[in-house]
Amino acid sequence: MPQWMETQEFLDILQGLRQQARQDIAGAMDSAALEAVRVRYLGKKSPLSQLLRTVGTLPPDQRPRLGQEVNAVRQELEEELNRTARRLADAELAHRLQAEAVDVTLPGRRRRRGTRHPLTRVLEEIQDIFVSLGYWVAEGPEVELDYYNFEALNLPKGHPAREMHDSLYITEEILLRTHTSPVQVRTMKAMAPEVPVRIIAPGRVYRRDALDATHSPVFHQVEGLEVDRGTTFADLKGTLAFFAKRMFGQERQVRFRPSYFPFTEPSAEMDVSCLFCNGAGCRVCKGSGWIEILGCGSVHPFVLQESGYDPEEVSGFAFGMGLERIAMLKYGIDDIRLFLQDDLNFLRQFARG
Ligand code: DAH
Repeated sequence: MPQWMETQEFLDILQGLRQQARQDIAGAMDSAALEAVRVRYLGKKSPLSQLLRTVGTLPPDQRPRLGQEVNAVRQELEEELNRTARRLADAELAHRLQAEAVDVTLPGRRRRRGTRHPLTRVLEEIQDIFVSLGYWVAEGPEVELDYYNFEALNLPKGHPAREMHDSLYITEEILLRTHTSPVQVRTMKAMAPEVPVRIIAPGRVYRRDALDATHSPVFHQVEGLEVDRGTTFADLKGTLAFFAKRMFGQERQVRFRPSYFPFTEPSAEMDVSCLFCNGAGCRVCKGSGWIEILGCGSVHPFVLQESGYDPEEVSGFAFGMGLERIAMLKYGIDDIRLFLQDDLNFLRQFARG
């Protein structure tokens, strides 16, 4: 800025600044850009402020008028800035309101309610029946000692019945339990010599099987055990017949066939009259009219003794069933893999209601 200038030159510069400022104000696209324009033209170091400082170098009689001219431009620009700021703020608010609008007319997203897994449902039914008879629900580990899985159940090393189990060993002495029967021993050891013992023990078991329609390397069993003074095979039959009728219908017949398990003596298998043909004979029962449900028997004296009970004082019965098998019969499911596949079309069929 020159130290001295002519009045006309001063006015030209002022007009130039005014026009440039109005143009820049109009060109500001948002509040931030406009604020920068405000600082540029009205700030302390702006050309307008500098121009005002040169008023002192002008002829004295011109000074008041020229000072007023600068202030008038200054005021005009301030007003223009304020108007534009308001317009931009309004536009920005309108834009935000539109962008963040919630369309309350949209239908809500429906959250689907899940259903109990069919195995859970069947287990709950089994538990309800036995709890109504005074049984407790017990649990044991899935990674089990050879001792509980076999040895204490009267299956010493080298016993041929061990081979029926296709065990998955982790070390020589540790395996994935092949059945829920070890929970019998664990429970008795924890309770001895107290009676009565009445427990069911549901849980996962593992066998070295390939997955197909009827086999799975992991499945579920429900174990049962009663130990008391004077418990007889008649108690076993009465208890399990009651269970079968509650589970599969009052019209079901039951029968017990002699069998063999190392941890029971005598041992039996319980059949129910076929759910599908009512005993007439069909594809499911292979024409026999009967369907095998579980293994059972009187607890072997060796097992009682090993678990801390005196076989002269107390006796008991035990049973074990496959949960998948019960569920498949109850719901007419023909492929065990369906329980593992998380297929919602399958699972939704078991919603209560
Ligand atoms: N643990 C046997 C199995 O996995 C099933 C079984 C049979 C359990 C007879 C018992 C029983 O408690 O008494 O094949």
